Formats: sequence, C-alpha cells, structure tokens
Amino acid sequence: MCGIVGVIGKKDTTEILLNGLQKLEYRGYDSAGIYVNDQAGHDYLVKEKGKIAELDKAVGPEVQGTMGIGHTRWATHGEPSHDNAHPQVSASGRFYLVHNGVINNYQDLKAQYLKGVHFVSSTDTEVAVQLIAELVEDGGMDTESAFRKALSLIDGSYAFLLVDREQPDKLFVAKNKSPLLIGVGDGFNVVCSDALAMVAQTKDFVELHDGEMVVVTKDKISITDENNQPVERKPYTVNIDASDISKGTYPYYMLKEIDEQPNVLRRLVSEYMNEDGSFNFDPKLIEALREADKLYIVAAGTSYHAGLVGKPIIEEVAKIPVEVELASEFGYHMPLLSKKPFFIYLTQSGETADSRQVLVKTNALGYPSLTITNVEASTLSREADYTILLHAGPEIAVASTKAYTAQITIEAMLAKALAVVNNVPGAEDFDLKYQLSLAANGMQTIVDAKADLEQLAHEFFANTRNAFYIGRGIDYWASLEASLKLKEVSYIQAEGFAAGELKHGTISLIENGTPVAAIITDKETASHTRGNVQEVEARGAKTLKIVSEDLAKPGDQIVVPTLDTVLSPLVSIVPTQLLAYYATLQRGYNVDQPRNLAKSVTVE
Ligand code: F6R
Repeated sequence: MCGIVGVIGKKDTTEILLNGLQKLEYRGYDSAGIYVNDQAGHDYLVKEKGKIAELDKAVGPEVQGTMGIGHTRWATHGEPSHDNAHPQVSASGRFYLVHNGVINNYQDLKAQYLKGVHFVSSTDTEVAVQLIAELVEDGGMDTESAFRKALSLIDGSYAFLLVDREQPDKLFVAKNKSPLLIGVGDGFNVVCSDALAMVAQTKDFVELHDGEMVVVTKDKISITDENNQPVERKPYTVNIDASDISKGTYPYYMLKEIDEQPNVLRRLVSEYMNEDGSFNFDPKLIEALREADKLYIVAAGTSYHAGLVGKPIIEEVAKIPVEVELASEFGYHMPLLSKKPFFIYLTQSGETADSRQVLVKTNALGYPSLTITNVEASTLSREADYTILLHAGPEIAVASTKAYTAQITIEAMLAKALAVVNNVPGAEDFDLKYQLSLAANGMQTIVDAKADLEQLAHEFFANTRNAFYIGRGIDYWASLEASLKLKEVSYIQAEGFAAGELKHGTISLIENGTPVAAIITDKETASHTRGNVQEVEARGAKTLKIVSEDLAKPGDQIVVPTLDTVLSPLVSIVPTQLLAYYATLQRGYNVDQPRNLAKSVTVE
C-alpha cells in the first residue's frame, strides 16, 4: 500500500526511480511522483494523477539527477489528485517527503504547530513535511534533529523518505509499522518499500526496524534507534531474479501466477519433504506446535480463506483443534483463548497491518508464533518466533492465486509432520507426497484447458451483475475464495455460500439467469449439493458444476482430479481463478490492478 523508492549516487536516477515505481505499482496506482536533484543546483518535481505510465509521460528529458525519491500512491487521506500525490513539499519549497502509512494525529499536529501555514493538499503527509520545515526554519533545528523531533510527535504508521534540497547529498529515512529497506550498492545506495523495486540495482538489503531513523549518503548508511543510539546491522541477500518479476510472454501477471502453481507445488515438495517422508521443518517449531493445545490461524482475505482450508486438514490429519480468525477482528475482540495457544500467521506479503497488530499483541502475551509467508525478512516473518517461506516467487498481480495454493500446501505438510511425530493412527496412510504430485499434475491439466474456461467465463459471467459460488464443507471454503477472486477483479457482485444455507434466505436473490457455480468434491455431501443446484435451477439460475472426477456426471462442465477431500481446493480453485481472469478481460478491466485495491495492505 503506497510504494516508496529512493536513490543516491547514481547518474540514471530518474530511470531507476521510474523503473522502481513500476515494480511497486501493485502497492497503489492512483497517483505517482518523483523528485530528482542533480546535486549541482537543479532539481525537478513531477507528479501525476493515475498510473506510473502517466508519470512516465510527464517526465521530460531535462529531469536528470544523481539523487531522488519517488512514490506510487494508494489514497488514504485525500482523493487521488495532483496536489495529493507525493512527494509532498513544504511551503518554503525546501523539503520533499514521500510517505507510506497513516498519521493518526495529523489534525492535532496541524492545529498545535502549524497555525497560519498554507496547505495545498488534504493529505496527512503534508502535515509531516510542513512540521519538519517549521522546526528547521522557525525552530532553528538542523534537519536531522527536526526529523527526529517530528517523528517523536507523530502518532501513526510510516515509512518516510525525506530530502532537504539544501543537503542533496543525504536521504533521511524513518520507519514505523510500514515496510522499508535500504539497498546497499557500490558508490550508491537505494531505499525501497519492497526489494522487488531495486533488485536490478543490488541484491543486498538492510532491513529497518520500527522506530529507527537512517541517514543515507552515496557511500554510508547510518542507522539510529529511537534513543538516537547507533545501530549496526548486516545486509542480507535476496534471491530474486529479474525474470521472476517480469511478465515474460504473458499479457498479465495474474495469468502467469495461475500458471506457475504446479511448479510452486513441486518446489515446495523438494524444499520441505525428504525422500524418506520426513520434513525439513525446524524441529523446535514442530516441538512448539506439539506442545500447543490449540492452533489459532490468523489472516486476512485470501490468506484467511487458505486458513479456513487449513483447519480441516490439520484437524483431520493431525487431530489438533484449530481456530481460524480474521486478523482485523481478532486483535480487538480476542476470544477466551485455550491454555496453550500457538499462533500461525498466514500472509503472502508478510506486511499486512491487520495481521501484524495481532502478532504484536500475542507476542506481548508471550504466545509462540509462526509466520507462513512468501516474503523473506518481511515484518511478520521477523517478528514471529518461526517462519516458513512459501517459495512461490514474487506475487505481483493484486489478486492472490499461487500464494493461496502454496499456503494450503504448507498447512498440509505441517499437519502431516505433526501427525507423524504424534503417532496419530492412520497418519502413514495420508500419502501427502503422492497427493501433491496428483495435485500438481491436475493443476497442469486445468491450466492447459484455458480455452474451455475462457468460453465458460463468457457463457456464465458475460452480462451478469451478480453470481454465486456454493459448496459444502471444504467446498464451501473453496467457494469463499472463488467468489472473492471473481468479485475483486471483475466487479461482479459474487458471494460464496454454504450450499445448504441458500434455502434459508438467500435463494430469494436467484432470478432468471443468475449464475450459480457449485463446487462438488466431497463424497459425503455431493448429492445434497446437487439437490441445491436443482433448487436454484428450478428458480431460473444458470448453473456451472466444478466436480471431482470420482463424483462427475454427464453434463458437469468442469471436472478436476480427485484428491483426498481435504486437499481438493488445491485443484478446485484453479478453474475459478481462470474464470475470474477471463470474465475480467471480457468486461474490459485491468485484471492485475483492480480499482480501489492495492497489494500488501499496510494500514489497518
Ligand atoms: C485477494 C488478496 C487479499 C490478501 C489480503 C492479505 O486476492 O490478495 O485478500 O490475501 O490482503 O494479504 P497477505 O496475505 O499479504 O497478508
């Protein structure tokens, strides 16, 4: 949510900033801007409403320099507009600031410290830059001290990148609750919200912790903590290739990421499963999980849906009770916990503010935790006791696809690992390696049948305003994710529903032609769900059935391979991802960047 880039000590600063912003566009795309300084008396500020492509067009050839900052915005305070785009500038024109986060007390700061200052935007960020300017220009402070003082007055979340045009040999950086990294170069340094933005410049990054402030020059990175004490921290190396973050021959990232799922599954097997059936998980983690009397899975959005699937897998295979909780609710309405809880945070980005605030609370309560994430060294990974990486490769499309199936795969592996160490009867019969190889091959068959799914998307979703996915048990959990995928990218009002529950009210929404897709992979409830399909057909619904091979009947439009029932979402979800993808393109929308959304939601 909002992407930040900065560079110092590079001749091609403008190009680096624009390329970096392009890579961060998934974090917000309602407006963007750059500030570039040539450290020889010339500087440039360019801002545009809209996507990075608009900014790119507005940047003239004269905009060249050796240091600069950039921002792509997902609006929180103030509508998307030129004035509200970042960098925000102090009234004196001396200070330039980009910001990711939310300043909760910006109105109080404005009233207390900035009376009489002329504001041009309605952003909280402008208050921060005007405050720093005020402390320097009226308060007589040097920039670093003023920045530190302003940070002490600000209540909220921030990743800040500040330039003082009178000191263009420095970037001033601070972080609290919003992600920010410093990339280490040879004779230059960079700053970014996500390493993806700068891997073309360096693979070595220094993570920042909350409350830290940094002064970055072209050959020095000076970190201090909130007490102004120096902090030494070694860089780590990221393993991302430029090809991982390019679309290659694909028209959209979402399609590339859907197609990558069979390989992600195979990669996870080779990463975490040994020939002899044992697992490469930290033995201390397995021990800590064993000691728990209940596992609490905390997550948001698609990751929450992956958690819902994880519950029956872990309960059935490992016989450990599991609760699945929405992060945004759980932190503020914590139920009575079990005696020995263990918290599992599922988060593709590792940065979701809703999930992080729960982790902060459970850490304070002293409960053990595991983060399952796709992003190494992300905030939730650093702050939990244990981390398992999803190894899915960067997920850039805003709609999450491969992270969902990777999360379910890891949950299944943990379930099996726990079942084995706990000698759960029947654990050996759950042949996960075989199931995952069936799943990977099945996913491949589905993604190879794109033309059929494109056609079905057209038939079912072309002219509809609303749609339903229905299922029971594990198929209900898959329906929730299928409907989220459809609605978030195609803007069709889609609802995932427990098939048996429709007749208790919602069936009144079914009209002639309403699309209802049923997911049927559970033998025990298949005939009931088929009965529910008939009920909606009798009321005019247009129905689509996604059925596992063992339960398929003539006329079922989509048949997926049969897996152990609790694992079936690994394959049943894939056609629904493709249906969402094609329905969106058929309606003429940008499937990678749905309106109002951003990936990596770093505000609560
Ligand atoms: C939907 C989607 C979101 C995320 C949610 C949590 O396609 O991507 O619902 O799943 O914002 O994000 P993470 O997993 O990064 O915590």
